[in-house]
Amino acid sequence: YSLKLHNTFGLNVKAKQYLAVSSTEEIKHVLKRFYASELFILSGGSNMLLTKDLDKTVLHIQNLGKQIIEEDENKVRVRVQAGENWHQFVLWCIEQNYGGIENLSLIPGCVGTSPIQNIGAYGVELKDVFHSCKAVHIQSVNEEEFTKVDCQFGYRNSIFKNKAKGQYIITSVDFILTKRKHELKTTYGAIQEELSKVKYRGEVSIKSISDAVIAIRESKLPNPKEIGNSGSFFKNPVVDKSYLDYIQKSYPEVPFYKINDQQVKIPAGWLIEKAGFKGMRINDAGVHKKQALVLVNYGNATGAEILALAQQIQKEIQQQFKIQLEAEVNII
Ligand code: EPU
Repeated sequence: YSLKLHNTFGLNVKAKQYLAVSSTEEIKHVLKRFYASELFILSGGSNMLLTKDLDKTVLHIQNLGKQIIEEDENKVRVRVQAGENWHQFVLWCIEQNYGGIENLSLIPGCVGTSPIQNIGAYGVELKDVFHSCKAVHIQSVNEEEFTKVDCQFGYRNSIFKNKAKGQYIITSVDFILTKRKHELKTTYGAIQEELSKVKYRGEVSIKSISDAVIAIRESKLPNPKEIGNSGSFFKNPVVDKSYLDYIQKSYPEVPFYKINDQQVKIPAGWLIEKAGFKGMRINDAGVHKKQALVLVNYGNATGAEILALAQQIQKEIQQQFKIQLEAEVNII
């Protein structure tokens, strides 16, 4: 069974068998009949690099539905099933006038995997609106609830990438969203610049922020339907302030985001561009022309070729800048 249409890199990797499930009951049913090691859990396929065929049965989580759990005049708690498309959910929120995730517009993937790497963009992270999630423990086949504290969210990180890695299937996520007095987050430079354009008529609302984010993303991130990719391939590295001072001697223009008094994050895309990789192409594996943090498949690249390119970048950045880039994408 080819997974080409099920991973945003568009890699033609094969699996033994494919099963789609659309409810927690069906998930449990499958888990009782297979060993965990025989299964490969698939969601939106937007954050993984498949480097070889899988001798496994793919379990595609497709639970759908949105439900209001509680609300008052200011806030609403919405439960969203794991298989709902993330961006469609964002658009639905904007239609309902529910605020909180407009900055996370156009992120590929599904709701169920959004907590795993605490998706984030333009000054907002999933954890800012996350209430809790439900997940089935693969070994015991019991459903458990994870609160925000349980999830141990960090930058592109959570318990589901650490202690609980590979042990759970998230079935639904509860979000707390605003119904009025939305907290609009427009501090990010690119958003301000976009919103200053005439077409927004100076209006700042959850809708205009969403439109601005969509415009920014479309201008520099490749659409996976046209060019295979998984968004940012690496995490932005966190370095000591003293290291920033050192790098600034050679590159006074280096962009950075302050984390605390001791640490800053340096954009990996900037490092990769400085190392000369931006726009590079080896066969069908490449580094995106407009955003060096995004690796792309121009059509027939293999996962192994993209991985080789990623490793070449890591080696070069290590040599030039003494920084170890860490993959953000799951390498399988
Ligand atoms: N830059 C370069 N050259 C490049 C790319 C970036 O010099 O080729 C510089 C830019 O000029 C800018 C800085 O790096 O000064 C930051 O670039 P950008 O605003 O594009 O954001 P990023 O740090 O590269 C992060 C997230 C993105 C998210 C954006 C916006 C990570 C790993 N990536 O990228 O998330 O959309 O910020 O908030 O944190 C994703 O995770 O898949 C993703 C796209």
